[in-house]
Amino acid sequence: MTSRIGILGAGAIGQLLCWQLRHHQPILLGRQAAPDCFIHTDLDGQRHRFSPQYRQLNDKKLSDIGLLIVTVKAYQVMDALLPLLSSLSADCAVLLLHNGMGPHLQLAPVLQGRDLLLGTTSQGALREASGRDCWHVRHTGTGLTQIGLLNGNPARSKSRVQPLLDAIANAEWTEDILMALWQKLAVNAAINPLTAIHNCRNGELATAGHCATIQAIVAELVTTAAADGIILDESALLARVYQVITLTANNFSSMHQDVAHGRQTEIDAINGFVVSRAEALGIDTPYHRDMMAKVRALGSVQ
Ligand code: PAF
Repeated sequence: MTSRIGILGAGAIGQLLCWQLRHHQPILLGRQAAPDCFIHTDLDGQRHRFSPQYRQLNDKKLSDIGLLIVTVKAYQVMDALLPLLSSLSADCAVLLLHNGMGPHLQLAPVLQGRDLLLGTTSQGALREASGRDCWHVRHTGTGLTQIGLLNGNPARSKSRVQPLLDAIANAEWTEDILMALWQKLAVNAAINPLTAIHNCRNGELATAGHCATIQAIVAELVTTAAADGIILDESALLARVYQVITLTANNFSSMHQDVAHGRQTEIDAINGFVVSRAEALGIDTPYHRDMMAKVRALGSVQ
């Protein structure tokens, strides 16, 4: 039976999903046993304690997993997933849920016919503490979650992912998931590097001084996506970027936080994905290249 849900990646989103899916008894796959976890939710002010079911990454018994949700960062996907593939059943569906784009291009050819789903989630989750005995994750907002099929069997993959869609508020099945991911990429490609470079909260990007750069980032992305077969509405996308800037005005973006904590950023999967697709298609994207160079120069580990 391949009815279990596995979660690969015990970061804040992985732990939050594990709790949201608790009635389906998901399995958290990791290097070490998962301790009890507290989910502090700003939505109802409650604190929920739960004990994730855990299985070691080198456990060869993964054949009962029917849906593997991968919540590691984009730059970790291939290293985390490749060693597990031979232990997964031939009909295990894989769902990638990370910021940015790119790993699906490397993963699709090696999945050997397994369904590949892609998704994006704007659920807010922050890991507040992760000691040996207990983890604490704060659920800060519901945000939109979109999931869709890239390759495989639509009916089978939709039924595999339905428990996840039911478990999260504001989650939807999305027919054109690549278009949804390019749209989300525009938001991240504008907000994340600029907040890291200017060391500011998202809201500061609403000032006039950033307007030309944000417009150019969105325009280059729209041109690249069009050459890649995805037609985006530039003015609607620009409006969406500014809407997110307003709605998350007090937040520090994930890239700002990565730089502030000396962690590797997701720049290669965000502006870097646009640059590499554009180069492959013979398009120049000077603003995205500039964002990459400036974020790399900030000195965090790349
Ligand atoms: O990566 C992030 O920080 C978020 O996706 C977003 C939407 C830019 C808000 O901070």
